[in-house]
Amino acid sequence: MAETVLQINKLTKNFGKLCAVNQLDLEVKRGQVFGILGPNGSGKTTTLGMLMGVTNPSSGSFSWFGEPSTHFTRKKIGAVLEHPIFYPYLSGQKNLELNAMIKGANPANIAKVLDIVELSARKDDKYKTYSLGMKQRLAIASALVSDPIILILDEPTNGLDPMGIAEIREIVKRIAADGKTIILASHLLDEVQKVCTHFAVLRRGKLMHSGPVDEVGKGEETVEVMAYHDDLSVLLQEFVGSATIKKENGIFQVMMKDGFHSQDLNKFLFEKGIITSHLVTKKKTLEKQFLEILAEAH
Ligand SMILES: Nc1ncnc2c1ncn2[C@@H]1O[C@H](COP(=O)(O)OP(=O)(O)OP(=O)(O)O)[C@@H](O)[C@H]1O
Ligand SMILES: [Mg+2]
Repeated sequence: MAETVLQINKLTKNFGKLCAVNQLDLEVKRGQVFGILGPNGSGKTTTLGMLMGVTNPSSGSFSWFGEPSTHFTRKKIGAVLEHPIFYPYLSGQKNLELNAMIKGANPANIAKVLDIVELSARKDDKYKTYSLGMKQRLAIASALVSDPIILILDEPTNGLDPMGIAEIREIVKRIAADGKTIILASHLLDEVQKVCTHFAVLRRGKLMHSGPVDEVGKGEETVEVMAYHDDLSVLLQEFVGSATIKKENGIFQVMMKDGFHSQDLNKFLFEKGIITSHLVTKKKTLEKQFLEILAEAH
């Protein structure tokens, strides 16, 4: 089993009456790219702020590497929480040199991190001439300059065009391949599916789900179906999308095979001349559930 790098226990943050993070439990293991997924206002930034020691928890706790968070443990963590302050008239290289000095990091790391974020060719240009994507990449470079074990990113692709988004995703994968553990907040399921290995879903500060990303597309729908027809049972078994069929309280429960949905079953029955009197999707795939959570307005 991989080592636990972060353990969160009942972490809570109240802002007055508003509970921004509600009894959150999470575990992140070494080598994971862990996504914190949730719609706007679900508590992602507040959670990351607590983990970085910039927001005080109302209650609960967390530990890094099995120890309570201290200045020393935080030195092993690099974070891009908000747009960091860079000097506009200095080059990317000079900004990173200043950064390394402030953090007591080895300046020899600078060339490597510039390479990772693909800014080596532009390192001598002034920061103010950088595109938004380049600024974001320099922020990642600055978080990496002290060679942290863990990298925390809050919505790293926000505001970028598709090209910029793709670049950041490649960089995140490269950093993960380099052996770092990454914690990344996002409101996009697609982003989490593309770059994360594990993830948690937050909704109004509450944990709705956590697990490996490859589970997301899985999980079958169960469709409740009823029709006044003697052969319904036989026909349900004929349907190619049926995995198992049960009858409960006079209603058929059809567990669908992966990729089949209630509309497929409805169409099949209709083509057989059967009009259902009852047709309800009961269990939805995780993907559908999350898309519904993410689409919630706040
Ligand atoms: N300093 C603060 N004072 C009062 N309320 C706050 C403060 N910071 C955050 N909140 C509230 O806490 C809730 C969670 O906010 P948070 O920024 O953590 O969400 P988020 O998931 O990061 O959202 P987004 O996707 O918009 O970045 C929101 O309702 C927000 O208004
Ligand atoms: Mg946020």
